[in-house]
Amino acid sequence: MAFSDKLEHWFNDNGRTLPWRGIDDPYRIWVSEIILQQTRIEQGWDYYHRFVAAFPTVSSLAKATEEQVLKVWQGLGYYSRARNMHAAAQYIMHECQGHFPQSYSEILKLKGVGRYTAAAIASFAFKLPYPVIDGNVYRFISRLRGISTPIGTTTAYNEFERVLSTLIDTLHPDRFNAAMMDFGALQCKPQPDCTACPFSDECVALQTMRVDLLPIKAAKQRPTDRWFYYLDIRWTTGDTRFMTIRQRTGDDIWKGLFEFDLLEAEHRLDDNELREAVVSYISARYHVANPVFSVGKELTHQLTHRTIHARFVSVELAQPPDVMPQGIEAIECAKINNIPIPKLIDRYLHQL
Ligand code: ADE
Repeated sequence: MAFSDKLEHWFNDNGRTLPWRGIDDPYRIWVSEIILQQTRIEQGWDYYHRFVAAFPTVSSLAKATEEQVLKVWQGLGYYSRARNMHAAAQYIMHECQGHFPQSYSEILKLKGVGRYTAAAIASFAFKLPYPVIDGNVYRFISRLRGISTPIGTTTAYNEFERVLSTLIDTLHPDRFNAAMMDFGALQCKPQPDCTACPFSDECVALQTMRVDLLPIKAAKQRPTDRWFYYLDIRWTTGDTRFMTIRQRTGDDIWKGLFEFDLLEAEHRLDDNELREAVVSYISARYHVANPVFSVGKELTHQLTHRTIHARFVSVELAQPPDVMPQGIEAIECAKINNIPIPKLIDRYLHQL
């Protein structure tokens, strides 16, 4: 039996039902693939429904503000995905007359869309014969053919794309791609049961006892540490509580999200160093002498390439500061939940 027939057979019996399966709206497929790039299906599922409920079309996404988009994305991480989709939706409305691009090369021009996502949209929405290559597909194909090229590199992508172009069912590339992903996720798992595999008779890794050695992954970089000291500055005017926030800018984590004024150190500060730093920082920036403050315990927040060590310094002012540093805004405390904030800030606010 041909490879794609065997696969189709397996998929008929074992394929998953997922909210973005069996649809051909390129917008929804795009949203699902961007979410699933760095998110597990269980978590992505709810976010997908929330996102398409908030922004059901390219046009509605384009018309939203970046803050509205980031708010729906809050908690998913990798916020550049949301900012890129927002920019791409505006590009589709303004440069493509509101028509979703229909060819692989045009889809690839969308901000945040790489070869994987372009192949997924082209095949699922437009039935074009481009193979998708995600982690699941890499695992399956590297074992099937005994390929030891480190995955996740451009070299590997090119090599696996060549292999898959000889296997893909060109009449049903959408079903083929969905089946490949499911096969990698459900059968050719990191610890597979090869006795139940329909490809065991042709699997090079099985025949050469390399199933648990493949795929080869490129060496991981170790996360670097960062030390954040956040100033949660508050006061009361009349009956209303206020706090200060700032929006993160620049080419760094959490761009576009809101947080407190931040003192970032090169190393962990001890309590005395921290107190001194806080006093001089507040005096220089807010012109407040002898501030009243208390310091919380360190919270650790793990990102893919960063470990954030954060302490929150709670500062109580008797009156609003005379001087607001550039980029710092005052908002009513009750409104903090309406704006996009990193999970770390959310964690701190919840534990208060
Ligand atoms: N992971 C990424 N995209 C997916 C899809 N369309 N179906 C299942 N898993 C996926």
